[in-house]
Amino acid sequence: MLHAVIVRCPHAHARVRAVDTSQAERMPGVRAVFTGTTPEAALAWRFGEPSSPFKQSSFLFDPHCRYAGDEVAAVAAETLQEAAEAARAVRVEYEVLPFVIDPRQALRPDAVSLHPDGNRVGEPLVWERGRLEDGFASADVVLEESYSTPCVIHTTLETHGCVAQWDGQRVTVWESTQGVWEVQEDLAAVLGLPRSSVRVICRYIGGGFGSKYRLDKHTLIAVLLARRTARPVKLCLSREESFLCVGNRPSAQMRLKAGLTRKGVLTALQLVNLGVPGAYPDDTDVGYLVWDLYRCPNVRIEETSVMINAGKSRAMRAPGFPQCAWALEQMIDALAEKIGMDPIELRLANAKDFLYRRNETPRLTSTALDRCLREGARAFGWAEARRRPRAEGHLRRGVGVAAGMWPNPGGPPGSAIVKLHADGSVNLNIGTTDIGTGTKTVMAMIVSEEMGVPLEAIQIEYADTATTQYAKVSGGSQTVITTGPAVREAALEVKRQLLELAAEELKVPAAELDLRDGQVVHAGGAGEPRPLSKLQALGQRQVLIGVGQRRPNPPGAQGLPFVAQFAEVEVDTRTGEVRLSRFLAAHDSGRVMNRLTYENQVFGGIAMGLGLGLTERRVLDRHTGRALSASWHDYKIPTALDVPGEMECLPVDPHDTECNNLGAKGLGEPATIPTAAAIANAVYHATGIRFTEAPITPMDVLRRLAERR
Ligand code: MOS
Repeated sequence: MLHAVIVRCPHAHARVRAVDTSQAERMPGVRAVFTGTTPEAALAWRFGEPSSPFKQSSFLFDPHCRYAGDEVAAVAAETLQEAAEAARAVRVEYEVLPFVIDPRQALRPDAVSLHPDGNRVGEPLVWERGRLEDGFASADVVLEESYSTPCVIHTTLETHGCVAQWDGQRVTVWESTQGVWEVQEDLAAVLGLPRSSVRVICRYIGGGFGSKYRLDKHTLIAVLLARRTARPVKLCLSREESFLCVGNRPSAQMRLKAGLTRKGVLTALQLVNLGVPGAYPDDTDVGYLVWDLYRCPNVRIEETSVMINAGKSRAMRAPGFPQCAWALEQMIDALAEKIGMDPIELRLANAKDFLYRRNETPRLTSTALDRCLREGARAFGWAEARRRPRAEGHLRRGVGVAAGMWPNPGGPPGSAIVKLHADGSVNLNIGTTDIGTGTKTVMAMIVSEEMGVPLEAIQIEYADTATTQYAKVSGGSQTVITTGPAVREAALEVKRQLLELAAEELKVPAAELDLRDGQVVHAGGAGEPRPLSKLQALGQRQVLIGVGQRRPNPPGAQGLPFVAQFAEVEVDTRTGEVRLSRFLAAHDSGRVMNRLTYENQVFGGIAMGLGLGLTERRVLDRHTGRALSASWHDYKIPTALDVPGEMECLPVDPHDTECNNLGAKGLGEPATIPTAAAIANAVYHATGIRFTEAPITPMDVLRRLAERR
């Protein structure tokens, strides 16, 4: 196996004049050096991903480098060390160009242009309903405020990486990915191969959060190097590259105006957002929660997206939602105070019930947002905590709440195959990647419960485009609710076949038989249980196969998850430090499939939201345009010492029998949507200071406290 290293542009904006690979090619162990002029690397690359809706494209090694990190060349060598040394020996002559990293400056007509059509990604997107002027006219209170969230990085524990190997016209890629089928589709399209000739396998993945959603350049580079050298090629990005080159949550600069009656009825919401996808186009819209979390007749949202010379954004855990919650849920908090209403009561007054037909979107099969707010408040001790004295020496204590929702109900296509062997053991076959959320555990539990076989008897084949069947990407909080129902149906199909065989053999009607502990049992308790391995009919067939499909969601309806989160903070007025002392997350994600993996999602989401609210941001150097925060030393993700000492997960299950055959709804993304906003509201409650710019750093707190004094 060879190892590959990518040569990246060190300038925020530059044009490659010439690349001299002669020295690198003579170095020990070097087997291939690719640049923009290498014939087989002269491939068009849709900005971002091959499937990107943005029609223009660049090249794999584009001579126009638009951020410090753009790919310029790549080397494959016998060892990683040799590849790294050869990469350093590649001489690139750059014409350094002026750069722009400030989004407002990038919008100006005289700004440096990153692309022929300018820096703006298309025209501003406007969503509108009702009449905004009427809404504000009928309001008793109108508030307007600017909010911002920074660019934050996914920081997957395992960096992006793959191994590529060719066998004739067929390529196999072992990839750390959320979606083997997306990588297969994209690779086949770029290489001009049938999808059947591209095999993508994902065994394990150390975090994705949206950054491992589709084909990346590094994978295509590994595939091309492997074809040239006729050797397997491994290409794993460095930690620094993982901060620079494989995505981020785009920053948002939001202006929000809201109208409210004295009785607490929202009459108008207006959001203007400026999103920054980095150097290439991407979806930076944030407005959904303003559009749809609360009942509000008059809404206008305007989204502008402008490119700058920085690493490109990508989907990141609930794309757009934590940003929007930061603005909307702080605004709701401020509105509640303005009319002297409890912020939970104000949310309840404007929350939608499940009968509400949401602005032409399908009816909800259930919503327990009201229960999340009420039961969460009770479990958290909200009323007492709101009344507790806030000052204690140099500490200021406060509590805050924020809510959210997520718009993905899951759905077809999705399929599963269950095979029952004559000895009673089972293979489950799904195309889904387990991105660390416990997918395999949950799917095995579904089979185990339906078929009455022990968990240990079940093995899972998964996420291999050659040996499993199509599955949607593990993202969008849709995995359990898309693949799970198909798994359940497949298990029930095998059970049906098995009981039919057993009925004949045992001379008992199938309706009176059931499966338990690996045995066929009589429903009434009569007769001897028969172990599956002793069923002659099963032995004669050797295997029973059941295929399950993900059925469509109920016509005109969908099951969506809701969340309310509660934070308690201590603000140290001497150091400016905000400590999250207590946190409670009340989630309506429907049925809890597995308590451990459920809590794991929720606690992970809280930690990530804490980072957005208090510690994380990409810092670009205004002198060079380069990212100064490209390591875990300089980029501050929360650690075990930062997460709340008391963290509670409160599932609220509306027993939704309509949304799908599991009664489960999405969870992974809701878990991080309102977290930062809840913290900001708690900081306001503690200090009386409204922090509208995330993250709330100790320096900001000290500065604002000093200003107030
Ligand atoms: Mo996600 S951001 O749908 O992996």
